[in-house]
Amino acid sequence: MNNKNCITYNELWSYVIDNLNISPSSIHGPGHWKSVERYGLFLSDNTGANQIVVRLFAIFHDCKRINDGQDKDHGLRGANFAKQLRNKLYTLNDQLFELLYEACADHTDQIFIEDATIATCWDADRLDLKRIGIQPDVSYLNTDIAKSIVINNSFEILKIHFKNNPIVGDNCADKNRNPKRKCINV
Ligand SMILES: [Fe+2]
Repeated sequence: MNNKNCITYNELWSYVIDNLNISPSSIHGPGHWKSVERYGLFLSDNTGANQIVVRLFAIFHDCKRINDGQDKDHGLRGANFAKQLRNKLYTLNDQLFELLYEACADHTDQIFIEDATIATCWDADRLDLKRIGIQPDVSYLNTDIAKSIVINNSFEILKIHFKNNPIVGDNCADKNRNPKRKCINV
């Protein structure tokens, strides 16, 4: 791995899923991660968040849960797992890795943050409360775009958006990717 930020997302997803401590069908499992990724990418078009960090947050933030309850410190464990895999399964420069680490470690203990990338990660996670029938609370969101989705109940916009802009390519093949949609599907 020589590229500064080199990620083959398919391989990373597979490895992390193979090392889960919860069921893959858990409410905090890969189905949720995929939704967080989509929400995050959608929000990032508006917030300017770094999309690599957003996509890695989706994979790592809940991947070291041991149960579907509060599971104290699961975010920190996910952050440390991301650290463990860095430079083995993916590379990321120091500045972006710091954002990823903080986003994962603090995602349940902290509500608000100024950094647009971390704010986007956290809002993406919170918007997906919809999957368990909970309406996200606007007062727990950071970004205007996430708040507007909740206020206008426009969650369906994601389906339309990604139907028209499929996630393609990966970061190691930037030159091949769809310029309209910067990231991949797995
Ligand atoms: Fe989550």
